[in-house]
Amino acid sequence: MLPVTNGFALGVDFGTSNTAAVLRWPDGIVKPLLFDGSELLPSAVCFTGTPPLLAGRDAINAARVHPEGFEPNPKRCIDDGVVQLAGAERPVVDLISAVLTRVATEARRVAGAAPESTTLTCPSGWGSQRRDVLASAASAAGLGRPSLIAEPVAAASYFVEIAGGRMPVGSSLVVYDFGAGTFDASVVQRTPDGFRVLAERGLDNVGGLDVDAAIVAHLGASYARRNQQLWQRLTLPSTSADRRAARQLWDDVRAAKEQLSRTAAVTVHIPLFDEAATLGREQLEQLATPVIDRTVRATRAAIRDAGVESATIAGLFLVGGSSRIPLAATLLHRTLGIAPTVIDRPELVVAEGSLYTALEAAPAPEAAPAPLTQPASLTQPASPPPRRPQHPKPRLRKPPRQQRQPRCRRVHRYPEGRGIGGEPWRSSRR
Ligand SMILES: Nc1ncnc2c1ncn2[C@@H]1O[C@H](COP(=O)(O)OP(=O)(O)OP(=O)(O)O)[C@@H](O)[C@H]1O
Ligand SMILES: [Mg+2]
Repeated sequence: MLPVTNGFALGVDFGTSNTAAVLRWPDGIVKPLLFDGSELLPSAVCFTGTPPLLAGRDAINAARVHPEGFEPNPKRCIDDGVVQLAGAERPVVDLISAVLTRVATEARRVAGAAPESTTLTCPSGWGSQRRDVLASAASAAGLGRPSLIAEPVAAASYFVEIAGGRMPVGSSLVVYDFGAGTFDASVVQRTPDGFRVLAERGLDNVGGLDVDAAIVAHLGASYARRNQQLWQRLTLPSTSADRRAARQLWDDVRAAKEQLSRTAAVTVHIPLFDEAATLGREQLEQLATPVIDRTVRATRAAIRDAGVESATIAGLFLVGGSSRIPLAATLLHRTLGIAPTVIDRPELVVAEGSLYTALEAAPAPEAAPAPLTQPASLTQPASPPPRRPQHPKPRLRKPPRQQRQPRCRRVHRYPEGRGIGGEPWRSSRR
């Protein structure tokens, strides 16, 4: 059962590239917060030399003038204590807090007051030190003391509460979370009290950024041969102008990769060379295969670690923006024999699902473990959620013809939109 509140509840997913935040209104309506018109706030920050630390698109814009003050992925610095921005050391807590401050400000603007409760998600493998950094940043941002929720638990809550997935007690959900900077495969079991993470395999340095890096390396193979010095200026930029050009290249590569999930071929502008390179879907798949293979192997290992019978697996839920790459669903289906569940806005699953983790305290919808002969049907929830009239009923949608293999369950909730990220290039650990 959903928690009974008289106020607003905020769910926040602070990601490597993007931060997503969802607000539940007192009447139960759930809406994503919009940042400059987008459901995704780039997690980037930029220090221009004078406070405040900019976050989101403001940071990305400022980075054109102040590339040395730019950090595109503060989540990747979670262990670092401090980072160098524009020649000065800044606590990582401040960087994360700058991003969360944008969320807190927007939530207050929409709600008219601070939300009554806040849930903030983090990878389930994070220890107390990382969780403390995140919680301190949230407090500094004015989000009070949020409840920290493990990302796969939030995803499982979404699967049951929003996507209408059927999960009897004892059954398990495989959560495949392929984001920008990290990959996590988790097996989450339904218990009488909620959910329990049975097994998790995390790959800290596997994400969409690695697919971007593979594309850049592929381009480099021909462009460096033609002009090594020019290409080096793009890969190891030392001046502000070259950093700008390098960021442009990584931005365009990421946009091209995202477009290739929908189209067969794209062109990428190569700065400094001032040329356009053509990239096809097949090329992208070849380049992405080693990265995606690792995620599939990790998923298989997580299922093995969990020791669950395949008959009790309720579904394979794809979340995170990089799960949009059609090859991910294809390889998963081929390797695991489970038809993946995919939804239109995989970046919002964790933030929204975190609002429903109060389910953990609710009575189980079914008392006895019920082996499932096949992944649960999304059209038959185990029990109708108590307050769901504000959500359109999930419905299945056939993927476009060229994407029909594998057959995925696709739940349509939000209008189609393009993922928006802000990472110009992988930040080196400091
Ligand atoms: N259509 C698409 N095709 C391929 N990749 C996509 C697509 N849309 C978004 N992405 C990728 O998804 C990633 C962003 O996803 P998401 O917002 O879920 O990550 P994150 O939460 O910031 O990262 P993490 O979960 O690793 O901390 C980026 O690498 C982006 O390029
Ligand atoms: Mg994420």
